[in-house]
Amino acid sequence: MAKKTIKDIDVEGKKVLLRVDFNVPLDTKTNAITDDSRIRASLLTIKYLVDHKAKVILCSHLGRPKGEVVEGLRIAPVARRLSKLIGLPVTITQDCIGIEVEKAIDKLKEGELLFLENLRFHPGEEANDPIFAQKLARLADIYVNDAFGTAHRTHASTVGIAKRLPAVAGFLMEKELEVMGGALSDPERPFASLVGGAKVSDKIGLLQNILDKVDSLLISGSMAATFLKAKGYEVGHSQIEEDKLNLAKQLLDKARNKGVSLLLPVDVIVTGNIQAQTQGKVVPINKIPANSYIADVGPQTIELFSQELRKCRTVIWNGPLGIYEKPHFAKGTRSMAELLSTLKATTVIGGGSSAEVVQEMGLTDKMTHVSTGGGASLRFMEGKTLPGVAILLDK
Ligand code: 3PG
Repeated sequence: MAKKTIKDIDVEGKKVLLRVDFNVPLDTKTNAITDDSRIRASLLTIKYLVDHKAKVILCSHLGRPKGEVVEGLRIAPVARRLSKLIGLPVTITQDCIGIEVEKAIDKLKEGELLFLENLRFHPGEEANDPIFAQKLARLADIYVNDAFGTAHRTHASTVGIAKRLPAVAGFLMEKELEVMGGALSDPERPFASLVGGAKVSDKIGLLQNILDKVDSLLISGSMAATFLKAKGYEVGHSQIEEDKLNLAKQLLDKARNKGVSLLLPVDVIVTGNIQAQTQGKVVPINKIPANSYIADVGPQTIELFSQELRKCRTVIWNGPLGIYEKPHFAKGTRSMAELLSTLKATTVIGGGSSAEVVQEMGLTDKMTHVSTGGGASLRFMEGKTLPGVAILLDK
């Protein structure tokens, strides 16, 4: 990797401020952590720092408290889960900056862990306020960023602090950049990307960037409706983005000119009411009833996509194929997750909902890499520079 990592720097006896992204999902009623994958994903980095006798000061945001203290978003439950997973005590502080925090850090011994309170309780975090960044920086000798999921944000704890301390990447950050970067820049071919999700507008950057790299592009999800419409099909009540029809046509033309095989659904599951608890009906794409919505891909599409992906040596997946939150419209999404888990190929799952499905189905270990970043992995796959990465020391 082009950036320095914790292996390139001596951490022994040093105060190391480790930025992690432990912005984990919480149960809306009980506030319990519903998925701790992001915590698990940084354990290797934390263990390395502990084993190499650093004084480890962890920090993260949790939720979007907008610069105020929100009781339900305190870091304590996250720190407790970390403590359980790593099998070591984790001390917590009542704030993330200030004299009390500095006193607690003074007491920290080599190999011990301390977790600062939610960074976003201070407005200076998201504003990348230089004074706040300086207050964070004075807590440590070295800054390590393992928070890939927040690397697309220009915040005090991702960028401001890195200007003030020697700044290197943790192992999760390194893995995210290497696996996704490698798949994008030097993929084993054939290389396919499966892109789904609600809106074309959310995925324009990704589609444009990836079309220059892949051998096949498989488009599905609600956004496929705009492409189908651009090809002259009627899509019933399915929401299309009128202002993206031309872009969809351009992408279809570009794919044709470049010899990229661009696959759209050939059949779909339709329903008259997305909220209904009933199964939808399978129809070919030239027979979508005027009073219905596309809710999932149909069995022929699953077969078509599967055949294409089975030929591939590298696959990047970003976005569900249908309304996967409803079990009766989740078959397309779940079938693709299942299929990818069986491929003898490099399989990279973009964060967000695709990662959620893979995690929920217990298939994470069967993929080459499941990104911990939602917005960050999308930006990365768009070919954009992530500010939290750019600021780290070059090798
Ligand atoms: C995420 O969950 O994608 C990251 O933690 C970033 O969170 P944010 O979108 O609130 O900045």
